[in-house]
Amino acid sequence: MMNYQDFFTSALDRLQTERRYRVFADIERKAGQFPQAIWHSPEGPKPITVWCSNDYLGMGQSRDVTRAMVEAAWRLGTGAGGTRNISGTSHPIVELEAELADLHGKEAALVFTSGYVSNQTGISTLAKLIPNCLILSDALNHNSMIEGVRQSGCDKVIFRHNDLDHLEELLQAAGDRPKLIVFESVYSMDGDISPIHAICDLAERYNAMTYIDEVHAVGMYGPRGAGIAEREGAMHRIDIIEGTLAKAFGVMGGYLTGTKAVMDAIRSFAPGFIFTTALPPAVAAAATASIRHLKVSSQEREMQQRQVARAKQVLSGLGLPLMETATHIVPVMVGDAEACKAASDRLLEKHGIYIQPINYPTVPRGTERLRITPGPFHTDAHINALGAALVEVWTALGLPLGTKAQAAA
Ligand SMILES: Cc1ncc(COP(=O)(O)O)c(C=O)c1O
Repeated sequence: MMNYQDFFTSALDRLQTERRYRVFADIERKAGQFPQAIWHSPEGPKPITVWCSNDYLGMGQSRDVTRAMVEAAWRLGTGAGGTRNISGTSHPIVELEAELADLHGKEAALVFTSGYVSNQTGISTLAKLIPNCLILSDALNHNSMIEGVRQSGCDKVIFRHNDLDHLEELLQAAGDRPKLIVFESVYSMDGDISPIHAICDLAERYNAMTYIDEVHAVGMYGPRGAGIAEREGAMHRIDIIEGTLAKAFGVMGGYLTGTKAVMDAIRSFAPGFIFTTALPPAVAAAATASIRHLKVSSQEREMQQRQVARAKQVLSGLGLPLMETATHIVPVMVGDAEACKAASDRLLEKHGIYIQPINYPTVPRGTERLRITPGPFHTDAHINALGAALVEVWTALGLPLGTKAQAAA
């Protein structure tokens, strides 16, 4: 007789053999004390310092943001009560979308339950609505974008990561047909930035639409925290800007911004928008509070940049193999799945430092790494302790010190 359970256990065994079975640490963050947290270890609760959160600016513990969430929940209750088609749009979402359209200088915005969903359903719906569309997609685009491209059913071509010559070659070869270029601003695993203006130049020359994912940039770059495109003065050149409310804004949800016509079309045709319950009003209210704060306050961004620069300086001064980045993402290369997991385990168990290992398929095999995200609440003392712990771990595991890491292929 067929044993269905065996299919699952053997799939898991394969992951174990390949050393990429994932274990999630049981963590309790402490509002008001970030980056300190409690790790519920097998031996009981232990204090730790978190170094791998994507709550990049610590807005998830902001008093204003928390208050907005709690007050909205008291006033409007917990859930949205259904999809927007069934139950209408709760007023905090209307306010949030106005805030987002203003943030990116666009006519309109549309909120989704996550950044993942906004990419998946946004890209697929957009491309399906453009007859005979060819999608040109950066080789390192996030899985949510890849799924959006795949689900569109449109023809696609992949251009080498940030390679303008290759992109131009593909645009030229495409001829007159409609084209959509999809790319990110900050690539989250290597921490590098795309050449936005140059991509827009090509898009204009070859009459292509542009779609950018600013998930790892919103809140953190640009004078009002609208992202890299804002910092570079390129927002108006991009047709659709996508972002998340879950990282630097510290809450949850995703969004698209663009013209009224495009947003209205996605609202009307995207299954991932239509057939799912809307964000709870309290979540929308908290996100609005966070965006409003970061539009006028640069303090968090400045502190983050200071601590990122300091962390890079201290860690590379100790000979740790940092990948050079121009962003807040600080990858330390290990290059082996087992060693990467062992380094992460030792940091947590011996030093009370939490940095999740990054393994395949998130990054290519042989480029396994620790991905460190310093933020405004990491003190100089935290950075020094991190440096000392990493050196102890590198020495104990026999990993090479004193080399510069090669950028991942
Ligand atoms: C580049 C990129 N886009 C989109 C997402 C999805 O965003 P969210 O976490 O809001 O679903 C992520 C990761 O979370 C990401 O790294």
